[in-house]
Amino acid sequence: MTIKEFTAGKLQAVLPALDPETVQTILETPPDKKMADYAFPCFRLAKVMRKAPAMIAADVAGKLQGTEGFESVQAVGPYVNIFIDKRKIAQLVADAFDSQKPYGSSNEGAGKTIVLDYSSINIAKPFHIGHLRTTVIGNSIHKIYRFLGYDTVRINYLGDYGTQFGKLVVAYRKWGNRELVEQNGIQGLLDLYVRFHREAKEDPSLDDEARATFTALENGDEEIRAIWQWFVQLSLKEVAKVYELLDVQFDSYNGESFFMDKTDAVIEELKAKGLLQESDGAQIVDLSDDNMPPALVLKSDGSSLYTTRDLAAAIWRKKTYDFYKCLYVTAFDQGLHFAQFFKILEKMGYDWAKDLVHIPYGLVSLDGAKLSTREGQVIFLQDLLDEAIAKTRSIIQEKNPDLENIDEVARQVGVGAVVFNDLFNNRIKDEVFKWEEVLNFDGETGPYVQYTFARASSILRKAGYGEFNRSDLHEEDLCDEYAQDILKIIEDFPARVKEAAERYEPYLITRYTVALASAFNKFYHENSILTAENESLRQSRVALTRMVTVVLKQALSLIGVQAPEQM
Ligand code: ARG
Repeated sequence: MTIKEFTAGKLQAVLPALDPETVQTILETPPDKKMADYAFPCFRLAKVMRKAPAMIAADVAGKLQGTEGFESVQAVGPYVNIFIDKRKIAQLVADAFDSQKPYGSSNEGAGKTIVLDYSSINIAKPFHIGHLRTTVIGNSIHKIYRFLGYDTVRINYLGDYGTQFGKLVVAYRKWGNRELVEQNGIQGLLDLYVRFHREAKEDPSLDDEARATFTALENGDEEIRAIWQWFVQLSLKEVAKVYELLDVQFDSYNGESFFMDKTDAVIEELKAKGLLQESDGAQIVDLSDDNMPPALVLKSDGSSLYTTRDLAAAIWRKKTYDFYKCLYVTAFDQGLHFAQFFKILEKMGYDWAKDLVHIPYGLVSLDGAKLSTREGQVIFLQDLLDEAIAKTRSIIQEKNPDLENIDEVARQVGVGAVVFNDLFNNRIKDEVFKWEEVLNFDGETGPYVQYTFARASSILRKAGYGEFNRSDLHEEDLCDEYAQDILKIIEDFPARVKEAAERYEPYLITRYTVALASAFNKFYHENSILTAENESLRQSRVALTRMVTVVLKQALSLIGVQAPEQM
């Protein structure tokens, strides 16, 4: 039972006309904590009871005097203000924590599958910070939904198809060779790509050649196909290192090319359903009734488009996974693309089109300029992570040179700092990448939360305290302001997880970890834990510290950040 449920229950007992749920929805948390823990406004009752709200409030407050678990009840104008007994708060939170395993989880998603399309990198392009956000947001949403009992299918919908591969093959044949590419990997491919664009500015015939090469690839030209597959393998091998550092995994790598033989059927179906129109030799779906520009689904040369492949992919995913929802995490500038193809599926008569969700995020720019692979205006994720890890290692070497697994901890903290920073603000907020900011470990950062976790863990080690044991926590010991703050934040965890899932907003969890870490640090500075005045107090505070470490670790793991015990 939550504190709110407990409070609503007591209120409902004196307001039999209302059902418990209604009481709960009316019950408010006042903006100023000094006023009350909960306030019950009586406006809505005034009509039914034909009495002034203030009179009802006075009446209800009178009936609630002396209620078990309430510290004080007071009518203030139309409100009933309630303070909960501090021991009751400790009791309810500790009971909830003790009974729910793991705390904050649920099985609301049992039997439901969420397909998550994220990261979805483009082959032959370096893994740069432009793809960090989709990767960490998607990973976090996966963890949050898993925690709520859903099955998830993590799909890396590789951008392994399209005219850029024609360009790359042309550039490779003109200016590259096997050894060079093998040696330089994606960077080698990128150099070729950049060079292609530079030279094509002077010589537009290169573009024609690239188009022809891609068509040949589509038509099954073996030699070109072999080069293309080699590029795909090379790219995947290289990005695997970044995924390993980030501790991000996928269940499927079925990318755009997987659907190349499935787009014809979609075109046929669109035609059969009367949705195709010709326009300058190309095929489009008219969406003017829905206030959107037409969607191009077949080029005049007969080749498919991004939209066509996404249509085929959605249909295939529904058939294969029978998803409850299919989520797509990309930058918000792809919003129109998703709105269009979702709408087309709806027009095709697929009622599950409503279960497709685009989860957009803001743009990342570099000192104000748009990231651009072509212009070479990028920061590689590998470099960013390496830098963060190196910085962490040098800090640890200075502060804690005897730390045993220094490499592993440096990785967890360095990578954690980058991930945490990326998940700190709501998704849609644009991000200006600044090295100083990402590598700043002071203030509300990943390392700060991780350090708090390590500090709490060290207290538990010194206390020789293992798993949380409910009987170690005595309510009367946790009535001080600082313990109460922690308890209320812990109580809030399950609701925050649910909210983060509903809104697809990992940052709610990120901010939550900061709030809990700060509350614990205050508690730690104000109260002695290991040297508390008496044994009961010591035990209770240690047990509370255990609750903090469990929740902090869990919350960090939901945003894909690890929690080393020592650092
Ligand atoms: N590869 C695309 C990009 O980097 C993202 C793909 C997103 N997923 C999708 N089903 N369209 O922009």
